[in-house]
Amino acid sequence: MEKNKVLEQLKENKQQRLIDILNKVDEETRNKIIEQLSEINLKEIERLYENIKEVEDVDVGELKPVKSVNPDRISKEELDEYERLGANVIKNNKFAVVIMAGGEGTRLGFNGPKGTYRVDVEPKPKYLFEIMADSILRANKKYGVTIPWYIMTSSKNNDQIVNFMEEHNYFGYPKEYVGFFEQGELPLITEDGQLILDEDYKIRKAADGNGSVFKSMYERGVIEELKEKGIEWVYIGQIDNILLKMVDTLLLGVAIKEGSEIATRSMLKEFPRERMGTLCLKNGKVKVIEYSEIPEDMIEAKNEDGEMLFGESNVTCNLFSLKAIEEISQRDLPYHKAHKAYGYMDENCKMVEAKDPNAYKFEYFIFDAYEFFNQISVLRGKREEDFAPIKNKEGVQSPETAIKLYNNYWRKHRDERV
Ligand code: UD1
Repeated sequence: MEKNKVLEQLKENKQQRLIDILNKVDEETRNKIIEQLSEINLKEIERLYENIKEVEDVDVGELKPVKSVNPDRISKEELDEYERLGANVIKNNKFAVVIMAGGEGTRLGFNGPKGTYRVDVEPKPKYLFEIMADSILRANKKYGVTIPWYIMTSSKNNDQIVNFMEEHNYFGYPKEYVGFFEQGELPLITEDGQLILDEDYKIRKAADGNGSVFKSMYERGVIEELKEKGIEWVYIGQIDNILLKMVDTLLLGVAIKEGSEIATRSMLKEFPRERMGTLCLKNGKVKVIEYSEIPEDMIEAKNEDGEMLFGESNVTCNLFSLKAIEEISQRDLPYHKAHKAYGYMDENCKMVEAKDPNAYKFEYFIFDAYEFFNQISVLRGKREEDFAPIKNKEGVQSPETAIKLYNNYWRKHRDERV
């Protein structure tokens, strides 16, 4: 793109700071910036800016608690039927797994992709990717199949993750069944809608959230690949839950029996302010309200028995039909914003440090895809069996608490180890 055309477009989009910078730098730098701009959809920047001004009001009066299937409250016959339906999908090679590993894991304070973090579990320490590999390998052995396993990375951590898996020989997973795909990015913008440059004249961007998974699977050809393999169901889970059961036959069975395209595990919150997305119903549809956006009266709401009215929470144990993934990949999910402090280059090409939040980062959330479907199955999970997250350095949802849960689980299920 030539300079004048770019300046014109920037003017249209009110990117005055960038215009000033472009007018001050040498030709080489100018070309570097222009090249990056040609990859950015300036219309999208406008949409992002509009989003900053929007305040999503959650009207608790419109929300109802979600209904879940509780495995402890259904008959043995029903459970067996679900299991059988689910197992059939696996045995017929119609099932694949995606692990989302594109997050930054800032809260853990570990310098590297979370999957390469090692936890001191019994009988020997394991990396998070190793725990995931073991879990799918166990299912492969049980069902006599090899499940295709995909890992979603980000532009920041893709090479590190691919090299790590290669160095560790994919932890024994057949390499030809492991795929990687990079998620997208969205530019950061300041409170007045300006793009931000860093000291290398790079436009600052950040990973676009785990809801990127659908579009990224489409754009990177993963959906096509899965279709060719005859896959019908895909489990999408998060990297940091060391009790994650990706090959969840019960969840599959419930989805099939109820005729849903999407199914998710839920978990009762331990306490009202636990940092978990809250599952609820809005206009009869399943919805998740993220912990960072939940209104106070929803946290405090109680039922007649004095229990949390909205206690059922999201654990990111999701199952999607491939058909649903394809459909979602063609639609726009809403943006969620986070107000943060980002250093930036000013109009005189000087770097300015930011101590207070001055800009926004935008993300798509995976569960926002629920809104496109009238029916979603929810299956209650158990903390001691399904959920040992590693989010924080210390305290709740930390390596210490997760290791305890993991060790206890595996002491009880010794015979299932491979
Ligand atoms: C997430 C859920 C929350 C739930 C909790 C349970 C979302 C938005 N929130 O919160 O409702 O109660 O888990 O543990 O899903 N990731 C990417 N790319 C990104 C961002 C994240 O791949 O750009 C991955 C992470 O690597 C991780 C997962 O998504 O595997 C969740 O990450 P995070 O954004 O940290 O959400 P939580 O705060 O853990």
